[in-house]
Amino acid sequence: MSERREPIGVIGTGYVGLVTAAGFAHLGSEVFCIDIDADKVARLQAGEVPIYEPGLAEMLAERRDRLHFSTDIADALEHAKLLFVAVGTPPTYSGDADLSAVRAVVDAIPASTSHALVMKSTVPAGTGASIKRVLAEGGKQGIAYVSCPEFLKEGSAVKDFLKPDRVVIGDEGDWAGDAVVELYEPLKAPLVRTDIASAEMVKLASNAFLATKISFINEIANVCEETGADVIEVARGMGLDDRIGHKFLQAGIGFGGSCFPKDVNALKQLAGNSGYHFQLLNAVIEVNELQKRRVIGKLQKHLGSLVGRTVCLLGLAFKPNTDDMREASSLVLSARLQADGATIRVYDPVAEHEARTLIPAVHFAEDALDAVTGADAVVLVTEWAEFLELDWAQVAERMAGTLVLDGRNALDAGAVGAAGLTYEGIGRGAIASSA
Ligand SMILES: NC(=O)c1ccc[n+]([C@@H]2O[C@H](COP(=O)([O-])OP(=O)(O)OC[C@H]3O[C@@H](n4cnc5c(N)ncnc54)[C@H](O)[C@@H]3O)[C@@H](O)[C@H]2O)c1
Repeated sequence: MSERREPIGVIGTGYVGLVTAAGFAHLGSEVFCIDIDADKVARLQAGEVPIYEPGLAEMLAERRDRLHFSTDIADALEHAKLLFVAVGTPPTYSGDADLSAVRAVVDAIPASTSHALVMKSTVPAGTGASIKRVLAEGGKQGIAYVSCPEFLKEGSAVKDFLKPDRVVIGDEGDWAGDAVVELYEPLKAPLVRTDIASAEMVKLASNAFLATKISFINEIANVCEETGADVIEVARGMGLDDRIGHKFLQAGIGFGGSCFPKDVNALKQLAGNSGYHFQLLNAVIEVNELQKRRVIGKLQKHLGSLVGRTVCLLGLAFKPNTDDMREASSLVLSARLQADGATIRVYDPVAEHEARTLIPAVHFAEDALDAVTGADAVVLVTEWAEFLELDWAQVAERMAGTLVLDGRNALDAGAVGAAGLTYEGIGRGAIASSA
């Protein structure tokens, strides 16, 4: 793609902002990226990519000439009408989304009739309406507003940008909505053009539904453990039903990441604030929290007390192919193991830098084989490809004990067992413990 297209501004250069910027530069736009983090901006100006996301560095490098980085929003306002907002919306203590970064962007925009805010950040339904009120009260009613929720998945974000399942655009049928539709047109993705509140709700409802599917299969897995069924077989049989599908039916030690926990809570809270008790989401959240902790019970079942035991965690990021540690199951697991007196050895091929500040007092190993050395038990926390190809005979030689706890049901149970190790997965009743 090289045809010149509408220039855009991107406010916030995190996972969403950088992928959006690189993607639209690839499609032909001049992109003006703004971030308040001066260090991050300096690194981006120097050609560094501050996050790990497959294909992103290459895509940014390919269109360096079209990408501009600055801490001053005036640089974006001068060159672009459409300002894509991709700042963080983390949870507050109440579970609501913290919209202070979004508000800071709204405040930083001067009155204008030629600019539009295009909201990529995940915000509660109703936020667009309240931002429009704030703009009007500040004499900035000329600024248009478009909701354009982001559905990318970390680890495959570049691919998701280029081949989205759908593009959702919520607007008031004005020039700004038309301009965003035109920007996405080359991707030929199914388009849902709707009102602002509905677009906002599509995002929250989609994440809540996926999280519900995960908690559902995790509960089925727990029942499988009681009944001797194997959840992998159960999910295979369920997933062949067109109405159900295979995706998000992988049982494991719970979901994490920057989106699911936060968005499920935000939707629950949003409903609660309007007087509606969203019972199903309460259960989804509770099941997920308990699922992370079930690993401890499994370790205790095999090892007894964990005091003085050495446990190895393979993988720390919330999922493979990312360095994102937000709400990763490894955080809960390592804290619980430490509280129970275990010694912890960890290894993650990419997330170590992020993890070092979040997980204190553990041994960061050089590689997977170094990590398992002397361990009484090994727990697969993140299913990085390199862990699936481990030589289990070598692992067995290095370990002090024999327990391999497959927290993602991703390992070859037969290969683990053939090395003389004890395999236990999640919800794999019949093959839960094979020596
Ligand atoms: N990460 C994902 O997988 C994903 C997927 C879909 C949607 N989202 C949503 O997109 C939004 C951004 O997520 P992310 O993961 O990219 O966040 P992030 O934390 O990686 O990046 C946010 C960036 O915004 C910058 N920022 C904060 N305040 C700013 C301001 N006033 N002006 C300019 N920059 C500012 C921060 O310095 C940071 O670089 C969130 O609302 C998130 O829920 C994330």
